[in-house]
Amino acid sequence: MLIEVKPSSDYKAGLAQLTDQLKGRGPAIDVAPALFSWLKGRELSTPALVFDLDTITARMQALAQTAANQNIACLLAVKSCPREPLLTIAQQHLAGFDVSNLAEYQALPADLSGKTVSLTSPQLTKDYYLFAARGNRLVVTVDSIAQCVNYLQQGAPFPYVLRIQGGQLLPTSDAAYTNCSRFGFTAPMLEQLLQRPDVQAQPPCGWHVHHGSEINSAATYQFLIAGLAKLGAQLPEPPAIINLGGGWHSVEKQQLNDLFAFARKVFPEPCSVFIEPGQWFGKGAGLAVGEVVNKSGGDDNLGCVLNLSMDCHLRWSSPRLLVPVQLPALKFAKVYLGGASCYEADSLGRFMLPYRQDLAHDTSLGLGCRVLLSNISLYSLAWNQGFNGIAPATEYWLRNGLALEPTA
Ligand SMILES: Cc1ncc(COP(=O)(O)O)c(C=O)c1O
Repeated sequence: MLIEVKPSSDYKAGLAQLTDQLKGRGPAIDVAPALFSWLKGRELSTPALVFDLDTITARMQALAQTAANQNIACLLAVKSCPREPLLTIAQQHLAGFDVSNLAEYQALPADLSGKTVSLTSPQLTKDYYLFAARGNRLVVTVDSIAQCVNYLQQGAPFPYVLRIQGGQLLPTSDAAYTNCSRFGFTAPMLEQLLQRPDVQAQPPCGWHVHHGSEINSAATYQFLIAGLAKLGAQLPEPPAIINLGGGWHSVEKQQLNDLFAFARKVFPEPCSVFIEPGQWFGKGAGLAVGEVVNKSGGDDNLGCVLNLSMDCHLRWSSPRLLVPVQLPALKFAKVYLGGASCYEADSLGRFMLPYRQDLAHDTSLGLGCRVLLSNISLYSLAWNQGFNGIAPATEYWLRNGLALEPTA
C-alpha cells in the first residue's frame, strides 16, 4: 500500500494526518494512475518532472465547460507553464491565453483567430499591436496610473480594464485577505485615475482582479465578485469586460458552478467575463521523481538528501512524499528530506512516516532508492532550472500512457 504524506513539523499533526491516511479517511491519493503505470519498472533519468496530458486535458475540458455554462470564457495563464504540449491543448480546449509580455505571446500557437489574449504586465508596454498580430482579440489590463497613461498615449484601439487589488475587495475576516499588494489599484489610486481628463475621454471598459493567494475559497471569490460589482458605479457605462483572474485551485469543483452563476448574475450579458487560471489545470497531473543520494542519522533522526532540489525543481509546489507502508505499522518516525544543492535552506521538509522494523528499508528511502513526490505544480516546470552544478529536471509529458520526446 502507498500513502501520500504531507510535510509536518509538528508530531501531533503529523500523526493525525497519518492515522487518517492509514484508516482510509480523507481524500484518496490525488495522482493520475497513468503516471504510476508509466513509471512502473521504467529506468529514467532523474531528477524528473512527469506530467500526464490526458489528466490536464480532462481538467481543461471540465473547467471550460463549467464556465461556458454561464458564457464565461476560460483562458490559460501562460506563466504557469509556457511549454508547447500544454499550450497546444489549451489552444484546443480554452478560449485563449493570459500573457505578461511579448515573449509569452510569441510562445503561443501561430494562429490565434477566434481566441482572446489578455495582457496583464508588470511593465509598461511599447507596442500593443504586436499582441494582436496573430488574429486574436486583445484585452489590455492596466495596473497603475503610469501604465494607464502610457496606454492611452499610444492611441491603441483595444479595450482596457483596470486591475484592482484583491485585498481591497475582501473583508479582513476572509482567510485569503491581504492588506497590500504591489499589483493593481487601491481605492485612492482609482479615484485619482478616474478624475483625469484623458481617462474620462476614454474610460476603462471594466475590471480585472487576480488574487494570488493559495487559500482562496468560494467565499473569497464571492467577495471579489461583489466588490467589483460595487466599483461598477464609478464607470460611466456598466462594465463590458470582467476578468476574475486565477487562483481557483483550492476552490471545490462543485462550488465553481455556483460562483460562475453568481458572476454572471452580477455581470449580465453582454458583459464578457473571463477567468485565467494556471495551477488549476495541473492538479493531480504531475509527479517529481528523484533518488536518495545521501543519508545521515538512524531510525530516530533519519535525514536523506535527494537529487531533487526544492529551489531548482520544485518551486511553488508543496510536495508530498509517496511511500510504501505495510500494515500494521508498528512505529513512526520523522524523516528529513533535503534538496540536492549546497544551499542550506534547500529543504523539502520533515515527513512523519510509519514503518515496521528498518525505517529506510521499509519506506524505500535507502541509498539509491527511487523517491516519488506528488502535489507538483505546473509552475515547477516553468521555474525548472539548474544551480550549483545541478541540472534542471528532465521533463516528461505523457499522452495515452506514452511519453512524448523528453525536454529540458
Ligand atoms: C495576472 C495573473 N492571472 C492569472 C494567474 C494564474 O494564477 P494561478 O496559477 O494561481 O491560477 C497569475 C499567476 O501569477 C497572474 O499573475
